[in-house]
Amino acid sequence: MQLRSPLLNVMTLAALKAAKGLIRDFGELENLQVSKKGPADFVSKADRRAERTLRTELSKARPAFGSLMEETGAVAGTDTSNRWIVDPLDGTTNFLHGIPHFAISIALERDGEPFAGVIYSPIQDEMYAAERGSGAFLNGRRLRVSGRRRLEESLFATGIPFLGLADHALFLRQLSAVMAIASGVRRFGSAALDLAYVAAGRYDGFWENGLNPWDIAAGIVLVREAGGFVTDLSGGRKMFSGGGVLATNTALHEDLMRLVGAASASAGAAS
Ligand code: IPD
Ligand code: CA
Ligand code: CA
Repeated sequence: MQLRSPLLNVMTLAALKAAKGLIRDFGELENLQVSKKGPADFVSKADRRAERTLRTELSKARPAFGSLMEETGAVAGTDTSNRWIVDPLDGTTNFLHGIPHFAISIALERDGEPFAGVIYSPIQDEMYAAERGSGAFLNGRRLRVSGRRRLEESLFATGIPFLGLADHALFLRQLSAVMAIASGVRRFGSAALDLAYVAAGRYDGFWENGLNPWDIAAGIVLVREAGGFVTDLSGGRKMFSGGGVLATNTALHEDLMRLVGAASASAGAAS
């Protein structure tokens, strides 16, 4: 059972408070399919409202910390070592379509490194929490990455680029390399939950190109504290600056990286 630190307490309470609004708005969506402005406008309001709640709660508890929030952008704090990295609604497209797979993601970055992370899935009522050196937990129960060692028995998650994003051909190469050797590939639509599921041992690994810090900062802490590995797609540390993310259990990191890396290189050669 987890003994929650004061820091994780602040983060989980903020997530629960913002989740209340998201749950209410998610329930309202059904009535909006016929409204004039349409549900997309409503969802972006829900998104901004959740971020406002998180900003208020987090800055009330730690007024000196800076922040990087998806909707607001970067705000400097007087404490230059600590900043919140927040996605108030990860899985927006799912939310918009009435699919109950979305999350609030809150990370604390300390001296440039992800230090603590909370990911909350409001509809499933799953609270993932981790702090460096203290383990990863789901609703207070300790998490451990999966023990699978062979690609053939492994289930991987990824993200598919969509309209307006680059690298469709690159992604197709990567997917075709991984699907040929894995027992399955999933695309559920929330990078934060994809990482949380790796920490929980549900997925054996996850990769995606070009995510933003708010999509992955909390998940990075979760996977590491559950005993897994997270790097950029080349095995380096550029996850926050366009290097993509590759997270696995303890055994599969080299294998997945080699596969995705070779496919990415051949995509480069072909273009
Ligand atoms: C998106 C989700 C999705 C990933 C996209 C992200 P959003 O975040 O994490 O899984 O594939 O690249 O932008 O827009 O729902 O916050
Ligand atoms: Ca996101
Ligand atoms: Ca978002």
